[in-house]
Amino acid sequence: MSENKKPLILGIESSCDETSAAILRGFDVLSHIVYSQIIHRQYGGVVPELASREHEKAIIRVCQEAFDDAEIKVGDIDAIAVTYGPGLMGALLVGLNFAKGLALALGKPLIGVNHIEGHLYAPFLEFPDLKAPYLCLLVSGGHTMLIDVQGFRKFTILGQTLDDAAGESFDKTARLLKLGYPGGPLIDKISRNGNPKAVHFPRALLHKDSLDMSFSGLKTAVLNYIRQNPPGDDQAVADIAASFQAAVIDTLVEKVRRAARFTGLKSMVLAGGVAANSQLRAKMENLATELKIDLFYPPLAYCTDNAAMIAAAGVLYYEKNCFSPLNLTAVPNLKLSSADV
Ligand code: KG4
Ligand code: ZN
Repeated sequence: MSENKKPLILGIESSCDETSAAILRGFDVLSHIVYSQIIHRQYGGVVPELASREHEKAIIRVCQEAFDDAEIKVGDIDAIAVTYGPGLMGALLVGLNFAKGLALALGKPLIGVNHIEGHLYAPFLEFPDLKAPYLCLLVSGGHTMLIDVQGFRKFTILGQTLDDAAGESFDKTARLLKLGYPGGPLIDKISRNGNPKAVHFPRALLHKDSLDMSFSGLKTAVLNYIRQNPPGDDQAVADIAASFQAAVIDTLVEKVRRAARFTGLKSMVLAGGVAANSQLRAKMENLATELKIDLFYPPLAYCTDNAAMIAAAGVLYYEKNCFSPLNLTAVPNLKLSSADV
């Protein structure tokens, strides 16, 4: 596609605790602004009411900065892509209502994007020629899923967590170890100084053909271990963190191995915030080499919640003329589902 035919898309993301806006021409990122709400750190988790208020304060500034950085006039965009679910109701409403108002004022189409789809399409920002079908491991604070992506809006969920999401288990374990929030990056960092074999935590692999996952037993095992063996120094904390992380990653890698065998897919994508984990990346690289499959993962900034991935989904929707009505409503428990397009 020639440069001036590529659609110019504004993406907006506000489903949880990041207020983000990005402008893409095709899959080229012209600007990308992320405001992470640090206010939640003191509470050890996201406080929904505070998240909505923070989005409200930040949304105009974040969008204005995205236009300034891209050197684009507001009226020049072709469409506005916005997350409408899943996520926190109040948080979603801030981004969605802002996008609807802008679409109405500019007379431009609105594209409502499922946040999970945004994560699935994030690799296109780095690898625009990536072709479906591919296997995707989506691991974030809210989701842990193995998805067979057959094409645009064609998905089969092969397996998913039956309880806690992988990122949630990182956050909860970090809280038990009094490390702070969000826990994933902190556990990743201190695990580098720890022994992953110091404590054997359970790997819930379920029955041998299952692609579903479970992480709540692991969290309980960490809690029980800490109660019986309170860590006396930084080394003991690092050892528990590294042992916990190894249990999560072994489980994920084994499930991906089964899914690759089951589907025969030869391309694999890692997505979601936990895909930023250095050990997970290393182990998945080894698995990809062993199984002779191509592994793609988005750059770190596009793994965690961001508007560039929402705009990337918007580009695909725009090309297929898939637009949303202006009375689109936020859907906090929106599921991933295929559509006929
Ligand atoms: O995708 P994301 O930004 O938001 C959701 O849609 O949930 O993912 C956030 C999650 C948090 O649970 C955070 O602890 C985790 O991703 N995370 C990590 C790492 N960086 C972020 N988990 C493990 N290792 C990391 N390096
Ligand atoms: Zn996310």
